[in-house]
This record gives sequence, structure tokens and C-alpha cells, in this order.
Amino acid sequence: MATVDAPAKTRAQIKERTFRTDNWRQYPYVTFVIFTAWVAYATVRAMWGSAFYVEQYHYLTPFYSPCVNDACGPAGEFGTFVPASAPFFIPYALISLPFLLGFRLTCYYYRKAYYRSFWASPQACAVREPHGKYTGETRFPLIGQNLHRYFWIAAGLISLLNTWDAVRAFHGEDGGFGIGLGTIILWANVILLWLYTLSCHSCRHAVGGRMKHFSKHPVRYKAWTLVSKLNTRHGTYALITLGSLVVADFYVMLVASDTISDLRIFN
Ligand code: FES
Repeated sequence: MATVDAPAKTRAQIKERTFRTDNWRQYPYVTFVIFTAWVAYATVRAMWGSAFYVEQYHYLTPFYSPCVNDACGPAGEFGTFVPASAPFFIPYALISLPFLLGFRLTCYYYRKAYYRSFWASPQACAVREPHGKYTGETRFPLIGQNLHRYFWIAAGLISLLNTWDAVRAFHGEDGGFGIGLGTIILWANVILLWLYTLSCHSCRHAVGGRMKHFSKHPVRYKAWTLVSKLNTRHGTYALITLGSLVVADFYVMLVASDTISDLRIFN
């Protein structure tokens, strides 16, 4: 009778770091550069404190939504409670940015990306990592990754706010209905944000998890099928939304600071 070896208690002792011959360093290095640049841009803009709103067309950058600083002016339509004299590092979107940061930091896609590019743990599949010990996500602080499902709920609510901002951006020069390039950019961004939020693994579990019989829950089954399809592209949406957020913010900043005029399509 064939015997089965007991699982090894230690890692395989192989001298070579990896036997891979492809360009496996490209992914972690490129990711490192993109993420670092994005975080630097977002941090500066979130604390900038100006050029975040175009009053004439109701364009509000997603980095300032909802705007809760007394200095928000008409952009603070949901109410403000942070005094204008607050230190510069308190962002105007104080109640949404921490949740969005938590949402992205605990996202399955980003975890893979920053574990590989920032912590080299591991840098790539089948590449030995420099760390001697591996405890996974079983201890503090990484056990906090389990909070992702709650951040997902918060992110859904914030996406509703972003949708409202995009609706408000249908604002014309005479105060009525209007469409400009800014409206289109804000809508493109919010649609991508929804794709990212709805393709989340927690969303997939919320709509279709823990079911014993799909046949008894046809609506949930339909929703699960749809979310599963979106879920296959979750990493793509995670990356694209980094770009769409920057484009939306940068465009609003240019128009709000009178660097360029909004390209008007209607009114
Ligand atoms: Fe990426 Fe939930 S897994 S947002």
C-alpha cells in the first residue's frame, strides 16, 4: 500500500531564489511606482483645500465628497462641521476618505498588489521571499483585513454620494440643465466606481454566499451570476478607477482654478 508523506513543517530548502526565467520583477516594480505616485497625488490634493468645486456647473471632485469643512461654501450641501481653521491635514472629505482608504487597503486585489510590491511577501509566485516567518493574515494588524466587508458597505454609500454629485453636474450656465466635458468625466468615473464596488468579492458573497440551493433563490442567483462576471475583472476595475479618480479630480481642479474653461456640449 502506498504511503503518504506527512506535510513538511518547514519550507523546502532550495538554494536558488526561484527557477522562474520570465520577467517576474516587472509586476511588483511597476505596481510600486504607480501606487506611490497615486498616493502622493491623492494626499496632496486631499489636503490642498482649494480648486475642488466649480460652482457654475456644480462640478465637485470626488476627493472632496462629501465636503464637510466650513470653507466648502456651496459644495458643502450635506452640511459642514469642520471649522475652516482646522489644520491643513484634516481633509475636507473627512468622513469619506478614511473609509475609502480602508476599502482599498483591504481589497483582495490591492492586498495582492502591495504585498508583492511593497513587502515582497512574496514578490511573485514561486519566488522565495526574504521573510523568515509567515503568519498570513492571522494576527494584528493584518487580521484587520477581515473588516473589508464593512468597508464595502461604507464604499457603497459613498458611491451613492458620488452618483448624486454626477447628477448635480448636469448643470447649465443659466442655472438649468446642461452638459459639459466635466459632466461626462464625472459620470465615467462614477460608473467605473460602481463597477469596482459591485465586482468586490464581499459583494459576491453578500448576494450569493451561504446558499444551499440556488434554485430556491432565483433572484439572488441572477445577481450572483452577474456579480461573478464582474468579479473576474475586479483587478482591472481597481486599477482603472485609480486613473479615473485622478482624471476627474485633475479636470475639476483645472476648471475650478480657471486654468482651462469647461468644454460645453449643451448650455
Ligand atoms: Fe476588492 Fe472588495 S475585494 S473591493
